[in-house]
Amino acid sequence: MGKRRRHTACVDCFRITGGRPLEGEVRASGSKNAGLPLLAACLLGEGDWAFSRVPRLKDIDTMRLLLGRLGAGSCHGEDPDQVLLHVPASLETEAPYDIVRRMRASIAVLGPLLARVGRAVVPLPGGCVLGTRPIDIHLRGMEALGAKVELQHGVVHAQAPVGGLRGARVNLLGPFGSTVLGTVNVLCAASLAHGSSRLEGAACEPEVVAVGEFLQAAGAKISGLGTAVVEIEGVSGLSPPASPWQLPADRIESGTLLLAAAMTSGRVRVTDCLPQELQALLDLLDQAGLPVTTGPDWMELDARGKRPQAVAVQTAAYPGFATDLQAQWLAVATQAEGISTVCEGVYPERFMHVPELLRLGAKIERDGAIARVHGPSALSGAPVLASDLRASAALVLAGLAAQGETVVRRVYHLDRGYQRLEQKLTPLGAEVRREVDEERP
Ligand code: EPU
Repeated sequence: MGKRRRHTACVDCFRITGGRPLEGEVRASGSKNAGLPLLAACLLGEGDWAFSRVPRLKDIDTMRLLLGRLGAGSCHGEDPDQVLLHVPASLETEAPYDIVRRMRASIAVLGPLLARVGRAVVPLPGGCVLGTRPIDIHLRGMEALGAKVELQHGVVHAQAPVGGLRGARVNLLGPFGSTVLGTVNVLCAASLAHGSSRLEGAACEPEVVAVGEFLQAAGAKISGLGTAVVEIEGVSGLSPPASPWQLPADRIESGTLLLAAAMTSGRVRVTDCLPQELQALLDLLDQAGLPVTTGPDWMELDARGKRPQAVAVQTAAYPGFATDLQAQWLAVATQAEGISTVCEGVYPERFMHVPELLRLGAKIERDGAIARVHGPSALSGAPVLASDLRASAALVLAGLAAQGETVVRRVYHLDRGYQRLEQKLTPLGAEVRREVDEERP
């Protein structure tokens, strides 16, 4: 009988000793979800593009890798937070499955490639732990602009008509409201289409506005950003803005850091952030009895000696409460007095963190898209497994409040969207150590 080979993989884990209130000031990084489509949007124009305040994240590396495979090489500038991207006159049009399957945001190259080259071949990203996550609205948008779209062997083949895409009226609404990356994809494609386009049911998320403003700086003619109706007058070409384009603060990272104060009854001030983009979270904390003080680019939660009160919340499109903060809020709800309810209105399946929070002693019942948290629970440290980006953040928060030691495994999920979170938490007084974890299947 042949010997079975044992495969091991070295990945990082976090070892957290919880139970300490966090206290201090922490700076927000640049936004992942603005940065990813901004980088992809550069495919719309030949030249040298430059960005500053780019977070050092796995997902940004994956996007750079994908753009590199399409012919657009990139490097860091003198400052490691700068990314310089060279987009040549001619581009490859086929996105490799090997990269797309790692990151759904890869789909953001579809609109730019189709508009600039007239052809795009992008594998369907497939589902993920958040649920099915179709891209039908993206494809419908490309068809409305005149593209022929076919699905063959799991791969989307999109071809612009002879003479290029044509401006059109595009409805971006789906069963769960609008789509962030779908809006960005159609916005990019319509920017180089002939004639005018009207996007109805456009997503209003700040990341869509960030991409739209960047396109404007590159020469696109767009109005109505941040509203449900966006109008675009196609132009013949885009070119890099005169100076490096600075990414806005990451609102989800900022919100997560603020919630670390709520979680540990501490005091945290987040600086270089955009509190106005987090109004729904600030309102919720206020309702929970934890008012947040804000300035133009900072916010502070002083929760010393306080516990949150249970409240009910539903995730929704912007300016509603962000689904990307739902897992972290659920962790905080374990410390709240009373029964909190969380209804997931964007991804009804996005509850992979619940079984792991139960391991730490949380009391949570799930009923479809609704979770009921009975609090407060005295959490106790345990080994837990991260399943996705925001679920990992929730487990780290829970570990900070749990008595004893929590080991969060598979923090590569966390590293996709949080720039060295342990280095932000440690100066606040958290005991979080990154270690190499030898995983056996
Ligand atoms: N949807 C469709 N059809 C489509 C597109 C979306 O039915 O063609 C549905 C989705 O299944 C979902 C809803 O519409 O139920 C909203 O999805 P959306 O398209 O807005 O999500 P996305 O653009 O793929 C971005 C963020 C996500 C964030 C969502 C919602 C990036 C790179 N990703 O995804 O961020 O959860 O918007 O706000 O911007 C994260 O950072 O952890 C993350 C998952």
